[in-house]
Amino acid sequence: MENLYLPDLALIDRIVDETSDTKTFTLHFANKALNRRFSFKSGQFVEATVFGVGEAPFGFASNPHTPQQFDITVRAIGAVTHAMHALKEGDYLGIRGPLGNSFPLEEVTDQDILFIAGGIGLPPLKSLIEPMLDRRDEFGQFIILYGARTPADRVYKPLLETWSKRTDIQFLQTVDTPDATWQGPVGVVTTLMEKIKLDINRTVAFTCGPPVMIRFVIQDLLGMGFAEDRIISTLERYMKCGVGKCGHCAIGHKYICVDGPVFSYRQIKRLPER
Ligand SMILES: Cc1cc2nc3c(=O)[nH]c(=O)nc-3n(C[C@H](O)[C@H](O)[C@H](O)COP(=O)(O)OP(=O)(O)OC[C@H]3O[C@@H](n4cnc5c(N)ncnc54)[C@H](O)[C@@H]3O)c2cc1C
Ligand code: FES
Repeated sequence: MENLYLPDLALIDRIVDETSDTKTFTLHFANKALNRRFSFKSGQFVEATVFGVGEAPFGFASNPHTPQQFDITVRAIGAVTHAMHALKEGDYLGIRGPLGNSFPLEEVTDQDILFIAGGIGLPPLKSLIEPMLDRRDEFGQFIILYGARTPADRVYKPLLETWSKRTDIQFLQTVDTPDATWQGPVGVVTTLMEKIKLDINRTVAFTCGPPVMIRFVIQDLLGMGFAEDRIISTLERYMKCGVGKCGHCAIGHKYICVDGPVFSYRQIKRLPER
């Protein structure tokens, strides 16, 4: 029987410094057969092991259409993530996954799409934005709003530059605290909502970011009249096993690791406070 807890060896092909505390790791599985058959969906996550240190969950940050090499973007905040930041290209991580459910993609074709991301919340949304942009003509209006603490705290700066030049999407970014080079809007990400025009009856909103940001975003979307099942978010909870066995991530009768991490607001609001 396949051991759910046994990580597979993955080689670090590339490490990109995104900000002072965040790096993107590009990985592939060392086992060629596994690497060939590997696939994942936008919104799913992996459990990454630094051997001798521990394991932690991270959302896929790259396009699922190229699963033979995939990215995770990691902010260093504790033991595992700091140990990951100390690794070099050519080193190994242990990887279990793909885990969890995924963003609805086929279900939202023909709809207008609104992304609202804060800080390190952009990586999981990027893994949905990219396959959607590959099929740009299947969606209506396409808006991406991104907020970060400072210009330097924005991840994927070259990609943001590319998005800002595209004429078939509306990409707006803001920072809480500008520096001398910043010429864009200043303020929290929800202030960007005043700058866009939406048909709320044909728009699906995807949001990911710090819990406090998500709370305000959902409050604003509901205030605009969005239906509860047109607001899609991810929930991050402390996780251990990632496969529905240990109960660490339970909220009420839901295990965030297998029933989530992707939920509509209609589903989230039924969960008990924790
Ligand atoms: C489904 C899922 C997807 C995630 N995706 C990403 C991602 O793409 N990129 C990324 O950088 N991080 C992501 N995280 C968060 C990441 O898993 C944690 O930062 C990591 O577990 C921290 O491990 P550590 O050993 O370095 O820190 P620890 O020593 O475990 O913790 C350091 C500090 O962070 C707090 N903390 C740890 N985990 C969480 C959490 N899940 N929520 C709130 N506070 C926490 C602790 O209370 C402590 O104060 C995700 C979490 C989940 C559940
Ligand atoms: S993390 Fe173990 S049940 Fe979800």
